[in-house]
Amino acid sequence: MRAHWRTRTGFIIAAAGSAVGLGNIWRFPYMAGENGGAAFILIYLALIFTLGFSVLMAEQAMGRASQHSPVRAFRSLKGGFWPVFGMIGVLTAFVILPFYSVVGGWTLGYIWKSIEGVAREKGAFGAFISDGGLTILFHAIFMAMTIWIVHSGVRNGIEKWTRVLLTLLLVLLILLAIRVLLLPGAEKGIEFFFSPDFSKVTEDTIHAALSQAFFSLSLGMGVMITYGSYMSREKPLAGDAASVVGLDSMVAILAGLVILPAVFAFGLDPKAGPSLTFITLPEVFAQMPGGKIFGVLFFLMLTVAALTSSISLLEVVTAHLEDEYQLSRVPTSIGAGLLMFLLGIPCALSFGAMSDVTLFGMTFFDLMDYLSGKILLPLGAMGITFFVGWVAWSRVVQELNGEQGGIPGWASLWRLMCAVIAPLLILWIMFEGIAG
Ligand code: TRP
Repeated sequence: MRAHWRTRTGFIIAAAGSAVGLGNIWRFPYMAGENGGAAFILIYLALIFTLGFSVLMAEQAMGRASQHSPVRAFRSLKGGFWPVFGMIGVLTAFVILPFYSVVGGWTLGYIWKSIEGVAREKGAFGAFISDGGLTILFHAIFMAMTIWIVHSGVRNGIEKWTRVLLTLLLVLLILLAIRVLLLPGAEKGIEFFFSPDFSKVTEDTIHAALSQAFFSLSLGMGVMITYGSYMSREKPLAGDAASVVGLDSMVAILAGLVILPAVFAFGLDPKAGPSLTFITLPEVFAQMPGGKIFGVLFFLMLTVAALTSSISLLEVVTAHLEDEYQLSRVPTSIGAGLLMFLLGIPCALSFGAMSDVTLFGMTFFDLMDYLSGKILLPLGAMGITFFVGWVAWSRVVQELNGEQGGIPGWASLWRLMCAVIAPLLILWIMFEGIAG
């Protein structure tokens, strides 16, 4: 018997946990900072509620309809060469999780650095990420926590832990937002956040918003197929999908409201890019009354967010091996996790000992990020949407209402999204990505 979520909200919790991650809290605020603030945010939200929502539902429907992990889902719905797109998803997990776990390790390390009070020192971040021994250690701890949760199973691992961690995350985030919004000078950040300047919008802005939307919702590698396969068929699908999209965008906005106003209040640069979180924020916390506590809470929150996402990456591989080869969960999750840990080592060293080792002009870290974000995820997402829109439509459309039966009126709009609009936009991400 296939495992199923223990509660009716199981899918929402686990899927939102997967979606909400470093993408929301670390990446989204700096992308908004770099791409003109409110205009970027509006475009992002528009994309996530139309396209993101449609692709999420496509994955979820494939999973629930087939009750299988990605490769078998494609095979049981059609077969032929289609399972290749499931295979791409499994492969992508081996590309994303190694570097994601390295960054997860940084966030862990920064809890410790914030307790010690050295996070704000000049050059601290550079010194930390170039220290191979230390970053590999934290990468190992992060990966071990990921393996621990996944090896405990769908109900007792993923569902149980995500429920606890996601709640903790929301509480921490709201606390931090209140603290930051009370800072004198925070208004400037809020203004930056809420007054769109569309003159700054270029093709690049839309492109950035689009790939961020996919990454943030964990789309394109079958996470949602796998999590959807643990759903029973009682309820219509759309409500759960909408809740996941809603939670994901709420966390991104809240994270932006923590980070950008704080940066403005202390006159720092919102365009600092990826270092915004690790360099600018400790500076902000150091200047803020009670900042040490809030600094520790912030990096704790970031670790928690990363962990509920990393488990979804390992789960795709674990579920695949379980389904395809009847292997048991414990050795499979440990084995796959260990391999990903090893693949993460060169990523961890990309900022230190191996910073000169490059392939196609990129370090391992950058290469894994590039390969997944610009090639593998878009390819997977294109396969999934095209498949749902053209190949498995008659079966998948039945899934929308589940046991309630009937087909909702908006199904043809959804089909248009899956069959035409999503594949074309994704193709555009890929071409721009490879050309750029
Ligand atoms: N969505 C997560 C984030 O925002 C990252 C993530 C987890 C992911 N699983 C994924 C991205 C699968 C793409 C595919 O941090």
